[in-house]
Amino acid sequence: MNTRFKKYLLFFIILCFAPLFREFFFGMVSHHHQPFATIEDILHTVLEIVIMGGLAGVLIFLDIRFTRDKFKELRVTQAVAIETLASLAEYRDAETSQHLQRIGIFVKILGDKLKKDSPYSGYMRSQFSYIEDLVHASVLHDIGKIAVPDGILLKPGVLTDEEFDVIKTHTTIGSDILTSADLQFQKRVGTQSYLTLALTVARAHHEKWDGSGYPDGLAGENIPLAARIVALCDVYDAVTSDRVYKKAWSHEEAVQMIRKNRGRHFDPVITDAFLLEEKIFEITKREYAG
Ligand SMILES: [Fe+2]
Ligand SMILES: [Fe+2]
Repeated sequence: MNTRFKKYLLFFIILCFAPLFREFFFGMVSHHHQPFATIEDILHTVLEIVIMGGLAGVLIFLDIRFTRDKFKELRVTQAVAIETLASLAEYRDAETSQHLQRIGIFVKILGDKLKKDSPYSGYMRSQFSYIEDLVHASVLHDIGKIAVPDGILLKPGVLTDEEFDVIKTHTTIGSDILTSADLQFQKRVGTQSYLTLALTVARAHHEKWDGSGYPDGLAGENIPLAARIVALCDVYDAVTSDRVYKKAWSHEEAVQMIRKNRGRHFDPVITDAFLLEEKIFEITKREYAG
């Protein structure tokens, strides 16, 4: 039973029992007052209990409504802050302006599917607001690109090894930025938030299932689940979009590449769920139609 429910229950009991307490209390202090001496007394007390119960119910209902509205307002404020933060990196990388929005949509679809029916559903269900946090986290995956110079980030053509090394730092820089934001949040509020998930996604979204990714060379389930989900959606959207250095692939070409990378770049379980998800293909088709 959660604490809030316990408080409501206590409040309800106190209010409902107040007429009984009053009846006994007067009986103890006044010799002229016998508790429940007449039928009228009993009916009177029962009526009071019903009224008090109704009053408690109304007050609890109003409190739940008010708290829910506040929570909703907080969630909206949070979402706006995330989008603003993410748009800082996006602003410099004009070609990917729709990239973050689509990743959020893909992550939601794929996340819902994995949560519903997969070996990961137990874990995902046990985490409070996992999918919502995952969507927020996915939007921030490339926040570290804010620190990559324009000459490299917007270079049309193949990057040199040195330039690619600079690009790679967007993972560690992103996670550093989000780690300090996360620490601040925890210090002030005392609980964890989507930022904890966001910093792991920022750091690990270029890790590969076979251990050949960066920055930490993690392999298999050592790569945080959230990062494995975002990684697939990120790659899928990157290859099916036009970029400065390449033309967009078709959905079929992207699917072929993803299938080939099952168990190499991508988690096999997540790949299978992704390949079965028709909705993603429909969104891509709609997005590029005309
Ligand atoms: Fe990235
Ligand atoms: Fe990306």
